[in-house]
Amino acid sequence: MNNFNFYSPTFFVFGKERENEAGKYVKRFGGTRVLIHYGGGSVCKSGLLDRVKESLTAEGIYFSELGGVKPNPRSGLVYKGIEICKKENIDFILAVGGGSTIDSSKAIALGALYEGDFWDFYEGKRIDKALPVATILTISAAGSEGSTGSVITHENGMLKRAANGDALRPVFSILNPELTVTLPNYQTACGATDMMAHVMERYFTNTKDIEITDRLCEGILLTIIKEAPKALANPTDYESRANLMWAGMVAHNDICGVGRDQDWSSHQLEHELSALYDVAHGAGLAVMFPAWMKYVMYHDVMRFAQFAVRVWGCEMDYQQPENTARQGIAKLEQFLISIGMPVRFAELNAKAEDIPALVKTLGLGNQTLGSFVKLTEKDVTAIYKLAI
Ligand code: NZQ
Ligand code: ZN
Repeated sequence: MNNFNFYSPTFFVFGKERENEAGKYVKRFGGTRVLIHYGGGSVCKSGLLDRVKESLTAEGIYFSELGGVKPNPRSGLVYKGIEICKKENIDFILAVGGGSTIDSSKAIALGALYEGDFWDFYEGKRIDKALPVATILTISAAGSEGSTGSVITHENGMLKRAANGDALRPVFSILNPELTVTLPNYQTACGATDMMAHVMERYFTNTKDIEITDRLCEGILLTIIKEAPKALANPTDYESRANLMWAGMVAHNDICGVGRDQDWSSHQLEHELSALYDVAHGAGLAVMFPAWMKYVMYHDVMRFAQFAVRVWGCEMDYQQPENTARQGIAKLEQFLISIGMPVRFAELNAKAEDIPALVKTLGLGNQTLGSFVKLTEKDVTAIYKLAI
């Protein structure tokens, strides 16, 4: 196991109707002038936004509002949010929505305390401070409610890039599984796929003797494989929604990634797809992850065989473990299809002729991508081709 630091200070408030305590927690965490940030309207339609506002008003907390975050959130609204924060002396940001809203909030929180362009942090500038961000989560997916990350697309060039830093971990996150029952099935499935991908980016590693995190990863994957079909068949099933909601958090706050090298190339390959075609992140991952696996599995057949046996219940073929490894990948693909995910380029309306452009915006040059196998531009091109 590698040495590691793990600092995960988010306070989680989990369960039914807990969003009504938003005002109490904003106060506890020092918010006096709040920007409520939200997406395209699902929180207005469900009445959630009104309940949150009532809760803040009951505590006498000043708030301003900014809605309109799009999935794959854009820089334009971030600039607007930063302007509001500076003009109105905002000291706290409350994200009400999914990963896109939370990530946009984190970007605003960075820019509000910075004189330069917030985009600097998405080009690698070290993050030292940000306004406190809290979340009220409405979709189990990105894990941004407990993560150090924020992913934004800059409209100038449509570059989708991530910023990471401990200062971006939310100070508190309210997780009420009931809030996810209004999700269209497609979004539930995209979310489940994203969570699985967060675990698998960590699972396929070159670090040895990491049994504890291997077992945590496998437990989270087994949970999603069991609970996602239940939530899809019965969207109002509280228990499956609850299990998925906590799975999404533990999949990405890094408790199952510490002490091991992590890969993350499938995510970067996907970010190029969602930037170019504006597809849901989870759907893009359903296409890219199996393609990546098929390409890199010979690097460590036994790790893929372990994945097949422990996660998918495949039988170990000791004579030819690559058969077991391949079966595991096939099972993953079948599962993704069964929950309604695309697994090939055409299903995303992605085109083979765009591959050179996708590789170019990835901007690898002479560098490599990932850590399980260090991928060159040639490898990356081959993986995109496998996804056709
Ligand atoms: O905008 P509204 O109207 O709220 O609709 C959203 C949106 O259309 C809808 N939705 C959310 N909750 C709902 C609901 N509809 C009905 N009922 C509800 N309860 O679902 C759609 C998708 O929402 P979005 O926030 O985009 O989903 P998600 O949480 O999957 O976030 C995706 C973004 O997160 C980034 C992705 O790249 C993508 O941009 N990621 C962020 C990470 C992080 N910060 O740590 C890590 C991830 O790997 C990921 O890259
Ligand atoms: Zn993701």
